Amino acid sequence: MKIFLDTANVDDIREGVSWGIVDGVTTNPTLASKEAGNRTFWDIAKEIINIVQGPVNLEVTALDADGMVKEGKKLAAMGKNVVVKIPMTVEGLKAIVRLKKLGIKTNTTLIFNSNQALLAAKAGTDYVSPFVGRLDDIGESGMQIVKDILQIFLNYGIKTEIIVASVRHPVHVQEAALLGADIATVPFSILKMLVKHPKTDEGLAKFLEDWKKVKV
Ligand code: E4P
Repeated sequence: MKIFLDTANVDDIREGVSWGIVDGVTTNPTLASKEAGNRTFWDIAKEIINIVQGPVNLEVTALDADGMVKEGKKLAAMGKNVVVKIPMTVEGLKAIVRLKKLGIKTNTTLIFNSNQALLAAKAGTDYVSPFVGRLDDIGESGMQIVKDILQIFLNYGIKTEIIVASVRHPVHVQEAALLGADIATVPFSILKMLVKHPKTDEGLAKFLEDWKKVKV
């Protein structure tokens, strides 16, 4: 399973990439707002594109297809690895069709059921992003949606990749991998949790303590 970092923080992205396990990045307007400071979104996006070899997902904010296509073209022009995030709406579907004709890749975001994923795939999107954590938050099973989308895509040989998004804890990552999702996009805090186990720390401390008794 590919792992994307779900952040616009360039320091976290640079660190994650140095671990050799980050395959791409997803951002959204909320994540971008956390990094606003003195830098423009364009400066931040350019830096992310330069750090990451794989797909860098940047989101449009227009609500109409014309506006989405205009923004999508501008975002895609920033780098070959840019994927344009389009919201799951009727206007979004129209924009996906038009961007595909221009050779621009799209990730359909804010997916909350399998029918939305099917429609986005039929329109020609390259990725769908079901938001598992936000579904769990309202008492629905986010992972059940992922399972349903995987089955539907399998039934019809649909090549659109599934990005498990809105990941809240390591169990989401494990479940995504067990189901066979293509990608999980995770905040850096969760990526760090994936590395850790208390028994690893305990074992290492014991090894180092015992090593002091060895003549070298
Ligand atoms: C996905 O691309 C989104 O950026 C993200 O996963 C949303 O997650 P949240 O529900 O934690 O905001």
